[in-house]
Amino acid sequence: MLSQAITRFPRLALLNGATPLEKLARLSQHLGRDVWVKRDDLTPLALGGNKLRKLEFLAADALAQGADTLVTAGAIQSNHVRQTAAVAARLGLGCVALLENPIDTQAPNYLHNGNRLLLDLFGAEVEAVANLDQADAQLAATAARLRKLGKRPYVVPIGGSNALGALGYVNAGIELAQQIGACGEDFAAIVVASGSAGTHSGLALALAQTLPEVPLIGVTVSRPDASQRPKVVGLLEQTAQLLGVDVPASLQIELWDQYYAPRYGEPNEQTLAAIRLLASQEGLLLDPVYTGKAFAGLLAGIQRQAFKDGPLLFVHTGGAPALFAYAQRAD
Ligand SMILES: Cc1ncc(COP(=O)(O)O)c(C=O)c1O
Repeated sequence: MLSQAITRFPRLALLNGATPLEKLARLSQHLGRDVWVKRDDLTPLALGGNKLRKLEFLAADALAQGADTLVTAGAIQSNHVRQTAAVAARLGLGCVALLENPIDTQAPNYLHNGNRLLLDLFGAEVEAVANLDQADAQLAATAARLRKLGKRPYVVPIGGSNALGALGYVNAGIELAQQIGACGEDFAAIVVASGSAGTHSGLALALAQTLPEVPLIGVTVSRPDASQRPKVVGLLEQTAQLLGVDVPASLQIELWDQYYAPRYGEPNEQTLAAIRLLASQEGLLLDPVYTGKAFAGLLAGIQRQAFKDGPLLFVHTGGAPALFAYAQRAD
């Protein structure tokens, strides 16, 4: 049993219980199709988002190892880095972050506002890097430098996406399956953004056991199917191995890669339209990098009749602080 296997791993209680599962009544009426949202944008620290679930396991491991500094990396507007810095502040740890500018912009809001502004408030030490093409090696080198200075660094990989971090989304999948059972809806599909893949892999492993009949669709935010698939499958296998469970033979990874163009971190017209639609119909905020693209995929899926009949469920993974970094695109 997954729920038993996962209890072997130390976990910090950063979440205080389940995030809500809600029906979007006005949007559903507007679309003529019921849409529900799992509100992981409402996790309780530092404006919320999916990384807190991963950090429940990663930060517990850091503390168990006696670390005094979390070291991580991401885009200047990374939600992951923001949440890692907030957790470090909460635990009285230092945080060192390597930041890249993946869209090569000099827009002041991108460089200074949104998530980046919050890193300063959390007291993170920030290092600009030209790119993160060798992220694991760059993080290891930073950790080595900190060790020479007498620090005890703990490396949190990009997106918190290793097997330990993915346990956060195995947990989320177990939680979601219980909520779906309780609400009694027969969902046609569950849709989630697929980036560094920990969210998608963890959910896929849990849902394959708990709700095998409901398709889980990962909308890619940075890569085509051909390069995203090995990331999701590889991490899923490592997560299953860590837990000591088998990957169910029936498990299929479904990826939609038509919605991330032109590239990671750059919204397209459909992304912006999806953000405006949810904001204007529901007062609910998506973001320009992840959830706006994933929700645009859900909307397009309805249009092209890609789902069987029934309500749809969107896993809202957060990210709204980045809206302020993309102010020039949101008008
Ligand atoms: C708001 C938001 N949604 C989705 C994702 C993607 O999650 P993952 O990296 O686990 O694939 C991220 C990752 O940074 C994110 O910040």
